[in-house]
Amino acid sequence: MDQKRLLEELSEFLSIPSVSTLSAHDADVRRAAEWVAAELQRLGCHSVEFLGSDVHPVVWGVGPEVPGAPTLLIYGHYDVQPPDPLGEWLTPPFEPTVRDGKIFARGAVDDKGQVFCLLKAMEACGSPPVNFRFLFEGEEEYGSAVLFDLLDREPERTEADAVLVADMAFVAPGWPAIYAALRGICYAELHVRTARSDMHSGEFGGAAPNAHEALLQLLGRLKTEDGKIHVPGLYEAVRRPTRKELSAWKKLPFSERDFLKKRVGGKGLTGLKRYSVLERLWALPTFEIHGISGGFTGEGAKTVIPAEATAKVSLRLVPDQKLKRVERQFAAAVRKHAPKYADVSVTFLHGADPAVVELDHPVFGIIDRAFREVVGRGVVPVRAGGTIPIVPALGQRGAPVVLTGVGLPDDGLHAPNEKLDLQQLWDGIEVFKRFYQLLGSDGKG
Ligand code: BES
Ligand code: MN
Ligand code: MN
Repeated sequence: MDQKRLLEELSEFLSIPSVSTLSAHDADVRRAAEWVAAELQRLGCHSVEFLGSDVHPVVWGVGPEVPGAPTLLIYGHYDVQPPDPLGEWLTPPFEPTVRDGKIFARGAVDDKGQVFCLLKAMEACGSPPVNFRFLFEGEEEYGSAVLFDLLDREPERTEADAVLVADMAFVAPGWPAIYAALRGICYAELHVRTARSDMHSGEFGGAAPNAHEALLQLLGRLKTEDGKIHVPGLYEAVRRPTRKELSAWKKLPFSERDFLKKRVGGKGLTGLKRYSVLERLWALPTFEIHGISGGFTGEGAKTVIPAEATAKVSLRLVPDQKLKRVERQFAAAVRKHAPKYADVSVTFLHGADPAVVELDHPVFGIIDRAFREVVGRGVVPVRAGGTIPIVPALGQRGAPVVLTGVGLPDDGLHAPNEKLDLQQLWDGIEVFKRFYQLLGSDGKG
C-alpha cells in the first residue's frame, strides 16, 4: 500500500470544508461531491451522476458489470458538521494534520475518512467480483432530505444483495462492531415570545414576562433532574432490548466509570439511573438542548427583559418509536408545559425513524470473517446512539444493511480535534478488501 500517496489524497478530500448545514459552504459541499465523483470515475465506474440537487447532490456510481456476481450498494456521506468552537482545535479543522499516527481534521472519521477507506479497498482489490453501486450523499448531517426524495421517487436504487455502511466505530480498540440498531431523531426549534419588544428591566421588571424565563420553565418541565422526559406517551412504544442483548452488553469492554472519567471527563452521569449506561445510550429516548439564543450575551452589561428566546432541541428515538408520532407528542407536550403567558411555537427541522437490522443474513458472517482475518477479532453485535437518517430506507427493499466502521470511541465526532487513527484506516482498507473478495467468491448467497 502506498501510504504516502493515500495520505495525500485523503488530506485533499479532508481539506474541503463541506459543511452542509451552513449555506456559506454550498460551493464547498459541491466541490467535495466533485472530488468523490472523480474518484468513482478513476475506479472505473461507468455511470457517475449527480442526483437530486445542484448544491448537495447525491453522487451515484455504478462499478464495472460482473455478470452473475452479487451487487453491493455502498452508502456514505461527504458532508461534515460545523467545526466550531474553532479556538479549541490544535490545528485548523480543514488543514488535515498527522500527529502521533492520527490524522486530525473535521470529517477525518465522520464520514470522509471512512468513505475514502471503502473506495481505497475497492482500488486495492483490482477488479473484485462484485457489482458495486455507490450512493454518497452531502446532507447526512442535516437530515438527508435530498436523498429521501430520491429514494421515494426511485426506490429501485437500493436494490442489491447487500448494503454496506461504514460510518461507525469499534466498541473499543481491537473490538470491531456490527450494529443491530441506530437511534432516530426528531430535531426541533422552540420559539418563545412574551412581549411586543424588549423592555427596560427596571421599568418593567417584576411584572412583565421574560422570554428566557418562560423558555427555561418550559425546558425544565420537559425533562426533570431524574432524567425522565415528560412528553406524554413518549415511552409507550419503547421496546426493551431482549435479555440476550442486555447480557451480551454486560460482557462488552465498556466500563461506566471509564465512560465518565475518560470519555465524558465530568463529575457525574445523568439519565434514568435504573438502566445501565449502555441501555441509556442505545435503547432509550433522549431529550437534549443544543443551544439557546436571544436576549443579551454581548460584552459588558445591558439591563433588558428579552421579549423573544429560541432553543434548538432534539429527541433521539429508539425501536419501535415512530418519528411522526413523536412529533405530535412533542408538540402537545410543549403546549402543555409552556407557561400560559408565553406564545410558544415549534418548528421541526428534520427527523428520522430509528433503524433495526436483523443480523442473521450470511453477509454478517462474511464481515465477521474479514475483520477476524485482518484485526484478529470478529465483530461484536452492538447498537449505536447516533442516527443515520436514510438507513431504514436503505433496507426497505429487503437487502441486509451492514452497519460497521473503523472509527474508535475517542475519535471526537462533531467535536474539536476530530481524528482518525491511521492504523485503523490501513487495517480498514484490508478488511473491506477482504470483505469484497469474500462476498464475490460467495456468489449471490
Ligand atoms: N456517523 C454519525 C452517526 C453515528 C454517530 C453513528 C455515532 C454511530 C455512532 C452521523 O454522521 C451523524 O452524526 N448523524 C447525525 C444525524 C442527524 C444530524 C440527522 C446525528 O446522529 O446527530
Ligand atoms: Mn456520519
Ligand atoms: Mn456525523
